[in-house]
Amino acid sequence: MSESRPLPQPKPVTVEARAARKVAAGHPWLYANEVVKRADDLADVDLVLVHDPAGRPIATGTYFKHSLIQVRVLTRRDERVDADLFRRRLQIAADRRRAIYLDLDCLRLVHGECDGLPGLVVDRYADVLVLELNTQGIFLFLEEILDALEALFAPRAIVLRNTSTALTYEQLEPRTEILRGTSTGPVVVSEWGVKYLVDPLVGQKTGLFLDQKENRRALRRWCRDATVWDVFAYSGGWGLHALAAGARHVTFVDSSAAACAQIRANLELNGFASAEVVQASAFDALREMPRNSVDVLVLDPPAFAKTKKDLPAAAKAYVDLNRVGLQRLDEGGLLATSTCSFHVSAAMFAEIVDRAVFQSSQRVELLAEGGQAPDHPVHLEFPESRYLKTKFLRKLPYHP
Ligand SMILES: C[S@@+](CC[C@H](N)C(=O)[O-])C[C@H]1O[C@@H](n2cnc3c(N)ncnc32)[C@H](O)[C@@H]1O
Repeated sequence: MSESRPLPQPKPVTVEARAARKVAAGHPWLYANEVVKRADDLADVDLVLVHDPAGRPIATGTYFKHSLIQVRVLTRRDERVDADLFRRRLQIAADRRRAIYLDLDCLRLVHGECDGLPGLVVDRYADVLVLELNTQGIFLFLEEILDALEALFAPRAIVLRNTSTALTYEQLEPRTEILRGTSTGPVVVSEWGVKYLVDPLVGQKTGLFLDQKENRRALRRWCRDATVWDVFAYSGGWGLHALAAGARHVTFVDSSAAACAQIRANLELNGFASAEVVQASAFDALREMPRNSVDVLVLDPPAFAKTKKDLPAAAKAYVDLNRVGLQRLDEGGLLATSTCSFHVSAAMFAEIVDRAVFQSSQRVELLAEGGQAPDHPVHLEFPESRYLKTKFLRKLPYHP
């Protein structure tokens, strides 16, 4: 436990009227061009008390001078931003998760703005907590957050995994280190009967793509006796669930050698033998995929549109992937296709899929739709919080 230390006191900034209304309506971000007045003694990274143009305080948040998103709201109430606030927020976040995922030992405990903790992600892997701190502002309160996490969860270790390319927007360097506790090797966690080996110090994201778990679970109902391709597989979650649900054979495809090694380890851990792991580009592998002999195809690519200006190229790549996938899939086969680009809206993704269906000359039924699992909450007043969209489509076995 660290000594209680003086924390930054909020300094005044003023925002324009429209931005003030946006914050009052629940949006947690203020862009640099919406802040019209700043206290003279404001540091580059600081805590601010946001005022509307009439001088009324409307929110307290973290501030970073060099970010496009200059203020991130921590509270709209008249409350102190101190160790106690972080403890309360973390407790609420934990209670929310306990209500939905009591049976899981791998889940997202804190999802930034959607848990009132902008800049903070906390994932739990058994008794290890893995953090991503993706704003300069949240680092102001790191010690208070670590103390609260230790008090609430008594983890064996707390690890920082700052690896996302988006960190550059906040001028943060990539950083991986053990912040509290003892060094940890890989841990075994379980997602509804599927076991994963997770090394909190290596790998993509914080260890697993926890946001897809409900969609992986949904896939199971279509997998008995099926021949499955899990493309962009990473640690193999979709295909492992398919095997657990009785799939005849799964081919896993990923371009990363480390991901392929992880899939092999997970296959062994679960005792699954009828599988093949292919290290290849998904686009090449799909073109090689035998026609009409795959019953279930999963396409779970990385975010092709990292920024708005990537959208045209990203849309084309998504259309190409889905078109080829639909053409290769067996008649009556199922395509589970996703986008995790928040710039690709649900409406845009629907258009992309429509275009792929049209170009593939297939008839397709929409069986179900999914999104990010509820430990990655979506806030209606914060549309940017909805990033993952998944569709389960069936290629009709006939042309009506
Ligand atoms: C969103 S992650 C997949 C998550 C995974 N399906 C799961 O449920 O855990 C995207 C994966 O695609 C892989 N990847 C990126 N570009 C690729 C490409 N061109 N071909 C094949 N795999 C690729 C990355 O290595 C990464 O593992």
